[in-house]
Amino acid sequence: MSKLKQALAPDEALAYRRRIDTRLLGRLWEFVRPYQRIVGFTVLLSLAANALRVLQPLVGMYIIDHQISEGDVNGLILMVLLFIGLLLLASACDVAFTWFISWVGQRAMDTMRRRLIRHIFAQDTVFFDRNPVGRLITRLTSDVETLNELFASGLVAVMGELLIIIGVIALMLTQSAKLTGVVLLSAPFILAVAIFFRRHSRKWYLETRRALATMNAYLQENVAGMRTVQAFNRQRRNHRQFASLNNEYRVANLHTILAFALFFPAMSFISSMAVAAVIWVGGRDMIAGRGAAAGLSFGQLFFFVQCVHMLFAPVRSLSEKYNLLQAAMASSERIFKLFDQRPTIDAPREPAPIRPLTDAIRFEDVRFAYVPDEPVLKGISFEIRRGQSVAVVGATGAGKTTLINLLTRFYDVTSGRITYDGVDLRRFDPRALRRQFAVVLQEVFLFSGTIADNLRLANPELTEEEMWEVLRQVRAEDFVASLAGGLHAEVSERGGTFSTGQKQLLAFARALASDPQLLILDEATANIDTETEQRIQEAIGTVLAGRTALVIAHRLSTIQRADRILVMHHGQIHEAGTHAELLAIDGLYRRLYELQYRHEAVADGGDPAAPAAAEQLTNESQAL
Ligand SMILES: Nc1ncnc2c1ncn2[C@@H]1O[C@H](COP(=O)(O)OP(=O)(O)OP(=O)(O)O)[C@@H](O)[C@H]1O
Ligand SMILES: [Mg+2]
Repeated sequence: MSKLKQALAPDEALAYRRRIDTRLLGRLWEFVRPYQRIVGFTVLLSLAANALRVLQPLVGMYIIDHQISEGDVNGLILMVLLFIGLLLLASACDVAFTWFISWVGQRAMDTMRRRLIRHIFAQDTVFFDRNPVGRLITRLTSDVETLNELFASGLVAVMGELLIIIGVIALMLTQSAKLTGVVLLSAPFILAVAIFFRRHSRKWYLETRRALATMNAYLQENVAGMRTVQAFNRQRRNHRQFASLNNEYRVANLHTILAFALFFPAMSFISSMAVAAVIWVGGRDMIAGRGAAAGLSFGQLFFFVQCVHMLFAPVRSLSEKYNLLQAAMASSERIFKLFDQRPTIDAPREPAPIRPLTDAIRFEDVRFAYVPDEPVLKGISFEIRRGQSVAVVGATGAGKTTLINLLTRFYDVTSGRITYDGVDLRRFDPRALRRQFAVVLQEVFLFSGTIADNLRLANPELTEEEMWEVLRQVRAEDFVASLAGGLHAEVSERGGTFSTGQKQLLAFARALASDPQLLILDEATANIDTETEQRIQEAIGTVLAGRTALVIAHRLSTIQRADRILVMHHGQIHEAGTHAELLAIDGLYRRLYELQYRHEAVADGGDPAAPAAAEQLTNESQAL
């Protein structure tokens, strides 16, 4: 279970940053800078609100010592109105402050999310190998949200609160140094409680976050993989696993709540004690000093009682916010770490211009490893001449798809080189390079939207007639026509409502729609009913006709269509030639043919023995 947890939420441990990091703040400021005038305005609002608030005890004291002592009823009404006026004004400033600071915060978050997704779109495949989907989504949503705390309850507000504390202490000193000392006696107790609270709430806040991240990742995987869960009847067991994660979340939450439940009454208690101390010491002075010149007035006593309340509110909210601010710093650190990842596959400063292929694409002694020291391609050399189609066959894991990954620069070669009309691929802008190819991948990915949206992926200008034309070419016309809505039929997430064969036909149509000069096809291995199989074979014929192509082939018919066949084995090219040549040398290809394709040639792909034979081949060739 702990392995599972680690896999689900790997870097939530970094939920806190100990110090407020000025470098991070500097980078955050970049997002706020466009609104700096509004931020300046909110600082003024916060100053005004707090200054007005600090004035209240003073006014109260004045009323008691003058209007009330002197029996001035009219003056009293006026002063009470003034008191209320101050309060209203302070509240109005608060409302405006909250609105404007949140407005800035939301704008900044909006910019940040947009830049983050643009940054993610610009990354290469290596990046996505390293960063699981769940983590990226967390960065974009919950981390950005946590960051928002910096604004909402954040820095400007903290400044205001510090200001109140300083202002109140200064005001108290003007009235009585002794009573100020009495109030400040509570400081060590406050500090002790605040530190205790911070430690505990931090621990449990961290735990809550971790538990939530784990639970979310678990949910995401299980809802996405629901069919597999149900097919393997894992509902009960997965439910138990979920219940345990859910339980941890609940416990962590309860502990956090307990920390708060203890903290607030403790703070109230200390502030009541401070009030009691003020009344006790001040009251005694008043009794003792009655008639004496240096006596304390009723107003001043009232003033100090008020000041204690005024002082405690910001102290309480500061210790409450401290954790949130630290969490926000940690979030911003994680976000900027993401921003700092640069794609390793990038356009050179002066990319070579790319033109339609005139000569050939060549692999020259290409070696490649996804993981250092685990070579997948071990010295591959071949060429695809213009107008020629090259098929690659070989056991699973031989490195066929890897060839495509390198040719489309989703990864760069470890050594050797791939050239396009003699120019090293690394000299091109990867985006310009990819525009030359139409790619049909092993796993077809359809986006939610309509069929038309998916066909227009490469070319948004495509008219409906053109779409019907490509659908006709890949023999998918009647299938699309039979859907309610036709071209505008809804495609669910990942195209879940279509069969594998239908998805493939749509993928062919999508590739044809951009009328590519170069075609890359990674044929799916799925078994498909005879009729669809027939259609797919015809579609492949249309798609390949007159095009330069690299085809990872599993069907005999596709292989036979190719001008040249490469047999890959353990990351090397074992044999190469035409179908007839390869059969003649009596090697790996011949064995492959006899085990797998001969059935296909006879039974037209519908032979149930074929997959078993293919598996046998895989085992056998792995043993070679
Ligand atoms: N992103 C990756 N990171 C690390 N290793 C990888 C990655 N992708 C593939 N591999 C490894 O590289 C080897 C070759 O994989 P590749 O996908 O090229 O095989 P393949 O010939 O296309 O197989 P299949 O016929 O099953 O599609 C495999 O051993 C695989 O485990
Ligand atoms: Mg593959």
